[in-house]
Amino acid sequence: MGNVAVIGIQWGDEGKGKVIDFLSSYADVIVRFQGGPNAGHTIVIGGRKIILHLIPSGILNEGKQCVIGNGVVFDPEVFEKEVKELDSLGFPCGKERILVSGLAHLILPYHRKLDSLRESKGRRIGTTGRGIGPAYEDKAARMGIRVIDLMDRKVFKERLKENLKIKNFLLKRYYREEGFKMRDILRSYDRYREFLRGYVGDASSFLLNCVEQKKAILFEGAQGALLDIDHGTYPFVTSSNTLAGNIACGSGLPANAVDYVEGVMKAYTTRVGEGPFPTELKGEEGELMRQRGGEFGSTTGRPRRCGWFDAVMARKAVRLNGVRGISLMKLDVLDVFEKIRICYAYRLGRKVLKEPPLSTTDLARCEPVYLEMDGWRTSTLGLKRYQDLPQKAKEYVRKLEELLETRIDIISTGPERDDTILLTNPFAVTL
Ligand code: IMP
Repeated sequence: MGNVAVIGIQWGDEGKGKVIDFLSSYADVIVRFQGGPNAGHTIVIGGRKIILHLIPSGILNEGKQCVIGNGVVFDPEVFEKEVKELDSLGFPCGKERILVSGLAHLILPYHRKLDSLRESKGRRIGTTGRGIGPAYEDKAARMGIRVIDLMDRKVFKERLKENLKIKNFLLKRYYREEGFKMRDILRSYDRYREFLRGYVGDASSFLLNCVEQKKAILFEGAQGALLDIDHGTYPFVTSSNTLAGNIACGSGLPANAVDYVEGVMKAYTTRVGEGPFPTELKGEEGELMRQRGGEFGSTTGRPRRCGWFDAVMARKAVRLNGVRGISLMKLDVLDVFEKIRICYAYRLGRKVLKEPPLSTTDLARCEPVYLEMDGWRTSTLGLKRYQDLPQKAKEYVRKLEELLETRIDIISTGPERDDTILLTNPFAVTL
């Protein structure tokens, strides 16, 4: 079998967790390659809701190997907590099941603090406050501390000392806040070192061997294409490349390692945090979507902004990722709407655009141009066969395929694992 990537093609929260959980049963190895505990992948199994921030969602499938790649920013506190929680829920996280790349960069307490200070005292991006941006900044500035550095106490201490000098200067002198004490961080990170022993290794070598042995790999994207640091709605983005193009670098594999990109999108659009959102609905319809879709952040609990499906943005994301098939999520949320709209172009001044403008400021001024379809106004919740969908819902699905010029592989009709219509299995295509 080949390798499949699952990538969000909106502003995150598309429902990737469910798709990854579903596809994991066909994979041998599941890999995270970017982002960190800003992700919140929600999976519902037998009425039980599980939210994973750092450990790949594939862990919920017995016997699968999970890898946290070098492109991830790794918070050992979150990792320890998740391992313990999963163990207690009956999903064992033994050292033979999870491999953490030694080259992943660490999130330290000062990253979280700086993240929240920037949000409260600088320009608001609406981050998750998990320290993601500051940790990636240190990586790019070559000041970062990696997991492998943590595993050697002497190296860790030296690097921490250098970093604390600068971070404490910034915290005390610029933000007028308290700094961090070396011994406090050392004490907790000494504990994490012990906890991490046996989990840390050379993830790239491991994955290269998996490719050679023709094992099926599933790459688990976090956030979404429109939050990509280069191609998203900058500066209202996350601090990593979320596109499929980053899989190779973020996991230590060659560029041809991915055979199939599965794009995941909701039947409507949501966004959490700041930034332009042309199809946002600020009135009753948006509230109805939020309530029906349970659109509250799984990492921060914030209400998500909701709006109609934006085919201009999604089409761009499909093309940027080389998406071959799509998982359409939460179709059932639209069951009650009399009319359903899809944005297929933008109006900017007197121009009509079929592609998003390059400038985020221009995007904020774009007015959506909609086509309108009749709603189906009957429940699709839990349907498992395409032929059982109401005709109008089928028309909606076909219209999305036409606008995105891409086949829909999977339709999700509810939160449970088996509330799913499988039209094409991406792993079967890569055989
Ligand atoms: P950060 O990734 O915490 O730095 O946040 C930057 C932006 O990305 C903010 O708008 C966040 O709300 C958004 N973001 C980060 N992770 C996710 C996610 O998993 N889902 C949706 N939005 C996210």
